[in-house]
Amino acid sequence: MSTAPNQQRAQAHLLPHFTKGSAWGADTLATIDRGEGCYVWDTDGNRYLDGLAGLFCTNLGHGRSDLTAAASKQMDKLAFFPNWGWSHPAAAEAASMIAERAPGDIGKVFFVNSGSEAVESALKFARNYHWSRGDTDRYKVIARDWAYHGTTLGTLAVTAIPKFKTHFAPMMWDGVRHVRNTCHDEIPQGGTAADLESVKAIEAQILAEGPETVSMVIAEPVQNGRGAVVPPEGYWQELRRICDKYGVLLCADEVINAFGRLGYWTGSERFGVVPDMITFAKGVTSAYQPLGGVMVRDPLVEELWQSDTAMFNHGSTFGGHPVATAVAVANMRAMTDENVLDHVLAHEDHFRRQLEGVMAAHNCVSEVRGTGYFYAVEFCADAANGVGLSEAQDLALRGGVLGQFVRDAKIMIRPDDRGATFLAISPPLIADREVIDDLASRVDQIVGRTDQWLEDNRQ
Ligand SMILES: Cc1ncc(COP(=O)(O)O)c(C=O)c1O
Repeated sequence: MSTAPNQQRAQAHLLPHFTKGSAWGADTLATIDRGEGCYVWDTDGNRYLDGLAGLFCTNLGHGRSDLTAAASKQMDKLAFFPNWGWSHPAAAEAASMIAERAPGDIGKVFFVNSGSEAVESALKFARNYHWSRGDTDRYKVIARDWAYHGTTLGTLAVTAIPKFKTHFAPMMWDGVRHVRNTCHDEIPQGGTAADLESVKAIEAQILAEGPETVSMVIAEPVQNGRGAVVPPEGYWQELRRICDKYGVLLCADEVINAFGRLGYWTGSERFGVVPDMITFAKGVTSAYQPLGGVMVRDPLVEELWQSDTAMFNHGSTFGGHPVATAVAVANMRAMTDENVLDHVLAHEDHFRRQLEGVMAAHNCVSEVRGTGYFYAVEFCADAANGVGLSEAQDLALRGGVLGQFVRDAKIMIRPDDRGATFLAISPPLIADREVIDDLASRVDQIVGRTDQWLEDNRQ
């Protein structure tokens, strides 16, 4: 099959997500046709390294026949039944396996179909819970700068990335406040995590709003927006302490972090915290089926059920779909049997060292941040002298220069512009030394060309 007919059909009829019409219409638009392991091929036979795990989600890599078989078997047996008033074995087993892998007393799982719906469900659960206790003024949500929490109108208000929101401003609810994230925040000498500006900002915001109006604090353990931002030690314990103090629910948005991205089932486990809710999607099925959800602490659900409200007043037709949940079961089983979490933990140092090697070899990288298989390589103009990118350089790099270098290196990683100019890197969790070295050498090629471009464009 050659590219042309597919490309033309896509350009004529497929309305893309977050893609400029000019880019979609370009001759360079690739049609990805098949995948195996950490690599995918386009219809012209070009091979690319999938350095973003699709979109942080193809955790077991491409071409897994066991996941395909699980889907097919479930379709033969029971293709569909809802989770409204009925149960079915696939959703029940998936929920049990997730609960077993969740921290603390998190024991209930509500399924939906995507990360946005997962966060939407957490927003509604928190409000529903407070309402059921007679705490009816609580509806506000505190989130962090540059965070991405989804695109439905409820979650878009929680997202803190201006370019996604501006056009829709009149349609969004007014209860969300954004405070600083943990990027470059450090515990002062002799202090504790309670002295972090990012911690103090959350408590100050709760007090400014009136604690009795605040429903939930939401944060990613390692935040994607602003580039793989790893929190300082003790940050999550402080969030837990503050939320408990003011009766606010704490939600860890783990749509990217959960299911092995950080080498643990959840990022919350990695940072030693039990939040009230954990939102997930993406890696729960390694993206072989669309599935998302929210995990909730047992006591909260029990309290809700025993109240006059008596139920979580939310649902959707396909939430907990038998095929998607059967694939989630097969995915978790495979991750367990193949020790995927240990594999990530065993290779994360090598991965980091390789990226740090790229940074050392070029003067245009200010920082390599991240943990597990989740990294950002941030650009500057001159690392040796601490000079950042000029506005013109930033605009050009973000406007297509970096994108071209990435395409030329035949790797899928994301040139990102959320709060800084950086490359977002997040390969399938099965990437071994060979794949990591291949990834690092392609990143080195991109960064080397960026270095040269900056030399030639000292604007
Ligand atoms: C942390 C986080 N929350 C929510 C979402 C929304 O997920 P989806 O694109 O599946 O709606 C994403 C998507 O990348 C995410 O990274």
